[in-house]
Amino acid sequence: MKIDDTVSIEARDLVKVYRTGGVRFEALRGVSLRIERGELVSILGPSGSGKSTLLNMIGLLDRPSSGKVLIEGRDTSRIDEDSLATLRNRRIGFVFQAFNLIHRLNSLENVELPLVPQGIDTERRRSTAAQILEMVGLSSKAFNKPDELSGGEQQRVAIARALVTNPAIVLGDEPTGNVDSKTAMQLMEIVRDINKRFGTTFVLVTHNPDVAAITHRRIILRDGQVEREERN
Ligand SMILES: Nc1ncnc2c1ncn2[C@@H]1O[C@H](COP(=O)(O)OP(=O)(O)OP(=O)(O)O)[C@@H](O)[C@H]1O
Ligand SMILES: [Mg+2]
Repeated sequence: MKIDDTVSIEARDLVKVYRTGGVRFEALRGVSLRIERGELVSILGPSGSGKSTLLNMIGLLDRPSSGKVLIEGRDTSRIDEDSLATLRNRRIGFVFQAFNLIHRLNSLENVELPLVPQGIDTERRRSTAAQILEMVGLSSKAFNKPDELSGGEQQRVAIARALVTNPAIVLGDEPTGNVDSKTAMQLMEIVRDINKRFGTTFVLVTHNPDVAAITHRRIILRDGQVEREERN
């Protein structure tokens, strides 16, 4: 198989049908897109247009009803669940709106969590997590638990957790959805810095036009289809 490693994510004619109590709903109706390695892309569109559904497909959290997702040239429709989980853990980081931090763990422990399934020993996990926390400017809060942090700080911990495995791709579903606009811009500075320094591909679902303005390309969805794209 020919691997094109300049392409980070490719979606080919994705269709996602949900069935609830006999009712059939097409959340995605033939979405195709190509995201290059190192691109910083936002996905916009009205509520219900399929943004989260699309992100779940390209993040390999759920499979499409038809069509396929290629990650770094690999056709993920052909690989089994275990290999899919490994690919997801090694190559993709996730940041969600609700932070999804574990409340009884401190910042350091939350950040090191994705390294556990990789079989990395405790000491190396700790030192890697500490480095990443420093990158997002939170060294001083390493031993605080989420309840002792502001919303913006919690989201920085969540970003650090997404980055700790050194992923090629980071996906965010409204990563700035629960913080004020000033904090959103600070988080985007971190994203932009990581994108520049490491060439990490970012795909961020957002409703915030200021966040979208910072991204290289905006993909606008409507009714489960790509309505249009805008580039800087
Ligand atoms: N598990 C599900 N079962 C049934 N329908 C679903 C399911 N998940 C999503 N949908 C429907 O699919 C459509 C797209 O949902 P999705 O969550 O992708 O929208 P979104 O663009 O992320 O919206 P928002 O901006 O409100 O987060 C919606 O109409 C939603 O009701
Ligand atoms: Mg959504």
